[in-house]
Amino acid sequence: MNLFARIREDIQTVFAKDPAARNLIEVLTYPGLHALWAHRIAHFLWTHRCKTLARLISQISRFFTQIEIHPGATIGRRFFMDHGAGIVIGETAVIGDDVLLYHHVTLGGTSLVKAKRHPTIGNNVLIGMGAAILGPITIGDNCRIGANAVVNKDIPPNCTVVGIPGRIVRRDGARVDDPGTPNVMDNTINRVDPQDITIRELRQRIELLEQHNEKLEELIRRLEAHEGLHHAWEREQARSRLTTGTAGGCATPCDATVAAESKSPDLPADMDMDYCI
Ligand SMILES: CC(C)(COP(=O)(O)OP(=O)(O)OC[C@H]1O[C@@H](n2cnc3c(N)ncnc32)[C@H](O)[C@@H]1OP(=O)(O)O)[C@@H](O)C(=O)NCCC(=O)NCCS
Repeated sequence: MNLFARIREDIQTVFAKDPAARNLIEVLTYPGLHALWAHRIAHFLWTHRCKTLARLISQISRFFTQIEIHPGATIGRRFFMDHGAGIVIGETAVIGDDVLLYHHVTLGGTSLVKAKRHPTIGNNVLIGMGAAILGPITIGDNCRIGANAVVNKDIPPNCTVVGIPGRIVRRDGARVDDPGTPNVMDNTINRVDPQDITIRELRQRIELLEQHNEKLEELIRRLEAHEGLHHAWEREQARSRLTTGTAGGCATPCDATVAAESKSPDLPADMDMDYCI
């Protein structure tokens, strides 16, 4: 493919992958395109024993675009970096065709050995903003890496990966449920939520108050029951005094008679004792 055909393809890729792209002049201002074209030159020089010049071009491109692509990185066709700022692509990274990267993506290494230490990205892969793909791992074709995910293990083709550490949530279009993985509202995450400590303390206090309340109610019930028995006993005593004229706490028979006579007819029966005592 000649140079102009490749440039046309790069521009068409921008129109295909960025719904905000309106016309050619706008697209030609995209830093993602500038960085890609600079990388093509730098990579050519890198692979033709002009490594220092390659590095220089890469650094100049980084200065203007905020995208750092090591000249040694291998990048396929129809590659597009949307927004671009903060993208870092390491020396031994290999990127397939039709890959889309958003800003702040890192294709980085996890070791300092001079060997393959950066990821290999398959064809037709989307990597969301802020995602970090670390180590000499392979991301299979047609994968989608969620924004801010951190992936450090091989991912088979046709998967959606999200989270830290990255976990597969979709494979071949089907949802993958991992019961060991906490959801946003899962208690495992709530346990480390600082507000959860306050909520748990409040719940404990409510439980304590409810227990106290139950005890108080029980006490009131027993008191009422006790008073009722007391009144019944007193009534019984008063009645027996009336019939015998001597029994109970009244000193003389006439006391009981007075008590009975002075009882108001409006008063309840258990008020007898009040007059008697
Ligand atoms: C991951 C992504 C590619 C969607 O892939 P998808 O295959 O369509 O997956 P879905 O949208 O069905 O999401 C699958 C699950 O992952 C969750 N999820 C999606 N993106 C996520 C993310 N970045 N982080 C954490 N969880 C995420 C969804 O909530 C969903 O969970 P659920 O099944 O419990 O409801 C997309 O969410 C994403 O992050 N794209 C990057 C976009 C971006 O960076 N834009 C920047 C523009 S400037």
